[in-house]
Amino acid sequence: MKELIWLTCLLLWLCGGHTLYEENPFLSIKQSKRTQLSLDTCFCELQGPVEECCCDVETVNRLNQLQVYPLANYLTGMSYFRFFKVDLLKECPFWQDDSSKCVMKGCHVEPCSEEEVPVFLKATDASISKPATPQQGHCSSVPASCSCDEDTLDEQNELGAIDSTISSKQQEEFDKWKEFDDSEVNFCELDDEQSRSLSYVDLSLNPERYTGYAGPSADRIWKAIYRENCFLPEEDITRHSIIDYSRMQGMCLEKRAFYRLISGMHTSITIHLTAHYLQSEPSATNPTFGPNFEEFNKRFDPQRTASQGPLWLKNLYFTYLLVLRAITKGEPLWESESFFTGNNLDEKIIKETIRQIVRAAKSCPSLFDETQMFNDDSSIKLKSQFKQHFRNISRIMDCVGCEKCRLWGKVQVRGIGTALKILFNDVQRLKLHRTEIVSLFNALGRFSSSINQLNRFRSNVQADQTGEDV
Ligand SMILES: Cc1cc2nc3c(=O)[nH]c(=O)nc-3n(C[C@H](O)[C@H](O)[C@H](O)COP(=O)(O)OP(=O)(O)OC[C@H]3O[C@@H](n4cnc5c(N)ncnc54)[C@H](O)[C@@H]3O)c2cc1C
Ligand SMILES: *[C@@H]1O[C@H](CO)[C@@H](O)[C@H](O)[C@H]1NC(C)=O
Repeated sequence: MKELIWLTCLLLWLCGGHTLYEENPFLSIKQSKRTQLSLDTCFCELQGPVEECCCDVETVNRLNQLQVYPLANYLTGMSYFRFFKVDLLKECPFWQDDSSKCVMKGCHVEPCSEEEVPVFLKATDASISKPATPQQGHCSSVPASCSCDEDTLDEQNELGAIDSTISSKQQEEFDKWKEFDDSEVNFCELDDEQSRSLSYVDLSLNPERYTGYAGPSADRIWKAIYRENCFLPEEDITRHSIIDYSRMQGMCLEKRAFYRLISGMHTSITIHLTAHYLQSEPSATNPTFGPNFEEFNKRFDPQRTASQGPLWLKNLYFTYLLVLRAITKGEPLWESESFFTGNNLDEKIIKETIRQIVRAAKSCPSLFDETQMFNDDSSIKLKSQFKQHFRNISRIMDCVGCEKCRLWGKVQVRGIGTALKILFNDVQRLKLHRTEIVSLFNALGRFSSSINQLNRFRSNVQADQTGEDV
């Protein structure tokens, strides 16, 4: 009983949201008039309805700021959601990896050592073969060091060692399940549970921010995604360097939705890297990060993006709403999920927090209507192509040259893939892997944080324009 009262208080406090907003780092930064003007045009699309969704931008902003962001932010800080199991050493299936593995220090990801993996994961995860040791904290002892030394990388991967205690019978079951998953319901290719290079990463110690990853390697990834794996109008493929969305208006809803989903995720990545941009020399021992208006402006300015920048920003809302809708539709899954952490109170808090997110989301009459997709004669083929393309994008993530970018790329693509899996299948028959649940809520956390950041950039511009002294 005492626990429940405590829990309720905690959630009320969280939903108040304001505690997280008392400080706005953007307000202290001055900028030139010219930047303000063009910045303002970046936001021109950020009003009114989000096409194909039924909420408007203003409603989403409110819902996000007051409820979803604080809740998702809290949730993703909990240990169940912080530890992400991932294979960061998987080879790129499409082309020879280039040398740009670590462009700068900030790229390296430090996997948890065995002692740092929480006991509850050791208890449930057959791939960790050694017996569980007493609770050791949550990787907080790992220095966020940035060495790119290949040797240390190798040593760190014992964690993923194959466990021979899985019986062949269990393995058979597992393979069957996997096969069913792959052919029927999955939109993503998951990492192979048997891979030696699987390890746990504490996401909170590896924040998504500026890494310096750019140039031919990053270009190739985005090109492969947009040019080879999105549905594009024929004439656009070779002629233009920037995809003109107005040329896609004649295409069916599903194909446009595919593009907007990816574009929304891309926007989120760009917002995070500009909101946590490098502020010191790249070679500094303790680099500092902070918001960079100029950079944000440059990347979404209509004049520099053939008028597409404002639409890219709006696509973030689309992606956000689709993921939020999936979480709402997945309600029965969360009710029956145990969220095992070995700590009863934690499990209760997780469930209650998710309930609150779902409740908040439901206050929006309709987030995204998935029943409009894949519902006519051509659907079966289209759905299969859609799935194939998306799965291919999940494999392209193994080609991302910078480790930290690869990590967050995988989290987000897998999160969107899980959302699609929930939206286009019967939830009563679904069973999600832990990694899918973790990815889904972290993806919501990312997109939610991006919308929050975007509004900070925006409110700064507005405050400056009305001459307010802030
Ligand atoms: C999976 C992945 C994760 C990454 N994570 C990080 C990270 O965490 N930190 C970091 O610093 N860098 C990260 N990067 C690199 C970053 O995304 C950029 O590639 C890099 O900053 C160079 O940016 P750019 O200005 O050349 O344009 P890019 O962002 O590389 O875009 C390439 C082209 O795509 C088009 N485009 C741009 N944005 C959109 C959009 N929203 N919708 C549709 N089309 C668009 C434009 O034509 C643009 O020229 C990541 C890259 C990838 C592929
Ligand atoms: C998968 O992506 C790669 C790299 O972009 C591309 O060459 C290939 O044609 C794609 N395959 C499918 C089935 O879409």
